[in-house]
Amino acid sequence: MKAAITAVGGYLPPDLLTNADLEKMVDTTDEWIKTRTGISTRHILKGEGLGTSDMGAEAVKQLCAKRGITPMDIDLIICATVTPDHQFPATANIISDKIGAKNAWSFDVGAACSGFIYALTVGTQFIESGKNKKVVVVGADKMSSIVDYTDRTTCVLFGDAAGAVLLEPSEDETGVLDSILKTDGTGRNYLYQKSGGSVNPASAQTVLNKEHYIFQDGQPVFKAAVVGMADVSAEIMEKNGLSSEDVAWLVPHQANLRIIDATARRMGVGNEKVMINIHKYGNTTAATIPLCLVDWENQLNKGDNIILAAFGGGFTWGSVYVKWSY
Ligand code: UT7
Repeated sequence: MKAAITAVGGYLPPDLLTNADLEKMVDTTDEWIKTRTGISTRHILKGEGLGTSDMGAEAVKQLCAKRGITPMDIDLIICATVTPDHQFPATANIISDKIGAKNAWSFDVGAACSGFIYALTVGTQFIESGKNKKVVVVGADKMSSIVDYTDRTTCVLFGDAAGAVLLEPSEDETGVLDSILKTDGTGRNYLYQKSGGSVNPASAQTVLNKEHYIFQDGQPVFKAAVVGMADVSAEIMEKNGLSSEDVAWLVPHQANLRIIDATARRMGVGNEKVMINIHKYGNTTAATIPLCLVDWENQLNKGDNIILAAFGGGFTWGSVYVKWSY
């Protein structure tokens, strides 16, 4: 039994943060941001009491409407996020409540920017085993809640959004066909949140030290990402006997246009086959890949070979091979 992606949904909060806005907040320029990252604008979730679950809930509602099902039909919701509404309970539990998915069980997966492909691989197992019939995988992050808007090295990178896919038993040879996922915990100190966890619980001092914000040492992450994402994408093609001509689309995590270009080059895939929307949304962490699927949904054809690829904090990285189902 294979798991087919049968619907996608997304949510982008309406407020925009442009490079021009950031020029007024920190010592940066539109030119620097565009040439080093490829980003022009990001969406930011504003509003008292709104969090990651609110965006995730909207994405799932859209997906249900497209597929013609109700939240009561969902068996399992998995949410990938690094910005949960709370440390606990899981954001997936809150999404379930907000959409009225009363028959679903739900949990979160934490794998930073690789969260969506990790969660997709986990969700696939419950379809393949026959345990569940309708599994929703959400990637959602309110990155603005952990960004230090006085730190020019990180604040230009991130945006807020949610994306979701529905997995159902495949009726043919299409579906999620393979995945290769990797972890290297020695990378943990290059991209992380220093405080707020059990090692260094939040205190007045940790807040004063700004340790609840994202810390990133950009260069080592960049170097590891270029190699990691490119290698694992080439590896999954080789493992499945795919040539660059066989690949219809590369769906890369949107962290930096230069990392995306390096991955496409390594796969031998031309720019016209690469989904890129980083200029509009920035790095939305777990949401980047499902948001690409939403933006390109109308151009996808049944049977298309699609390679999803990501790299992120942990380090975590990997790729997933999907044969599109509709
Ligand atoms: O999604 C999870 C995984 N994350 C990633 O994949 C991100 C990986 N890293 C990157 O994408 C890049 O390292 C960054 C985009 C974060 C930075 O680009 P870079 O080309 O690696 O720049 P850098 O950190 O080497 O900085 C070059 C210079 C520095 O100035 P000096 O030391 O040469 O004088 C920075 O201080 O650019 C400076 N700089 C800026 N200047 C203007 C850093 N940020 C900015 C900025 N505006 N926003």
